[in-house]
Amino acid sequence: MASSDSDELIESRRQHVADHWNLDSEVVLVRSGSLVPIAGSDLQYEFRPHPDFAYLAGYGVADAVLAYDAKDQRWQLFGPRSTADEMVWHQPANEIGLPITELDEWLKKREQQPLIESHNDLKIESGIAETRLRKDELELSALRFAAATSEAGFSWVYDNVTAGMTEREIQIGIEAEFFRAGAVRTAYPSIVASGPNAAYLHYFYGQDDSLTPTTRTLEKGELLLIDAGGEFGGYASDVTRTMVVGAEPTDVQMFLWQVVQRAQELAIDRCRPGQEWREVHLDSARVICSGLIELGLLRGEVDALVASGAVALFYPHGLGHLIGLTVHDAGGYPPGREPGSHPQSRYLRTDRPLEVGMITSVEPGIYFIDSLLTDPVIRQQFATEVVWESVDPLRGFGGIRIEDDVHVTDGEPEVLSGAIEKPLRIG
Ligand code: GLY
Ligand code: MN
Ligand code: MN
Repeated sequence: MASSDSDELIESRRQHVADHWNLDSEVVLVRSGSLVPIAGSDLQYEFRPHPDFAYLAGYGVADAVLAYDAKDQRWQLFGPRSTADEMVWHQPANEIGLPITELDEWLKKREQQPLIESHNDLKIESGIAETRLRKDELELSALRFAAATSEAGFSWVYDNVTAGMTEREIQIGIEAEFFRAGAVRTAYPSIVASGPNAAYLHYFYGQDDSLTPTTRTLEKGELLLIDAGGEFGGYASDVTRTMVVGAEPTDVQMFLWQVVQRAQELAIDRCRPGQEWREVHLDSARVICSGLIELGLLRGEVDALVASGAVALFYPHGLGHLIGLTVHDAGGYPPGREPGSHPQSRYLRTDRPLEVGMITSVEPGIYFIDSLLTDPVIRQQFATEVVWESVDPLRGFGGIRIEDDVHVTDGEPEVLSGAIEKPLRIG
């Protein structure tokens, strides 16, 4: 996209946000954020700009500020300038906007006007979030590119992964392909979970150095769940595939995989304007519930099993979340709606009607989570609804999730990650 087109899009984002805010004479500062030092070292964490800044500025630079003067309805960008000393050690910062050293002077001229820091003000933040919900062409092209980098990574998995490899080898392989295909970084820590590890919803190393979960070796016939995606231009891609490696799937693996796949297919087809996401989510739980009843793991009526939380034992998370400048993007709950305590929906990250331009993940799953299935209180509470003698032998089975990123349009849903195959078996 030519840069004058992108300038126009950035201008139009700012206009939408200012319209939402509908301010009178205030001054709003949107800060990009600063580098964060790593304790006990002279290093810093990799810089990630505040997404609101990146959205309204068009890029992310540390220690920059985008200011809005509501009185004359004008935006002014302030960016850092490298000193001579800094340029000995680092490449010079891009010279964006006015020098940040001029911000104080600029504010002084407006000291009669109320000053708002955007990240401390709910109304101001939600005005940006509501605008970020609907992606423009510039964002869509970044999201499509990010999904293409993920496709390269998953193709590598399908062509190369065999039993006997470690989770770590697979992680390195898929991430290398993301980067070769143009991803700037991974959109989130890659989840590469084999066998029983696939039951942890967010299984990755790095949270705690005493845990090295990605070193496990994949055994023939086990499930491999990979939830990973490339990031491009600040935009995320978020993809999960689950497959059996190196052997024909067992009947139970195949049955449950097909239930998840069917729940996903039905939900993707519902990614249309006006659909209440909470309803789509609950319907996906009903599909999963029917499968669990058919397999003899649950007994009772579908709606009652969803309402009681019995299905949530096997499908504890939400159907999906908005995707954009962060993998769990802004705007999931509009003002006035809040996450509830319903056991099937308490982790639902989005609760609003879908609109054209939104990107949502669609990621149902079924898991056998040891900490839930062995909890004596839970076993007692669901003594009649869960067929424990059929569930217990499936402890260690792992989990199955299938996830794609879907663009809500006027017509058919556009599955950004739709080119990534969904093999039930590889290797
Ligand atoms: N990859 C994190 C998620 O699916 O939400
Ligand atoms: Mn996701
Ligand atoms: Mn994911």
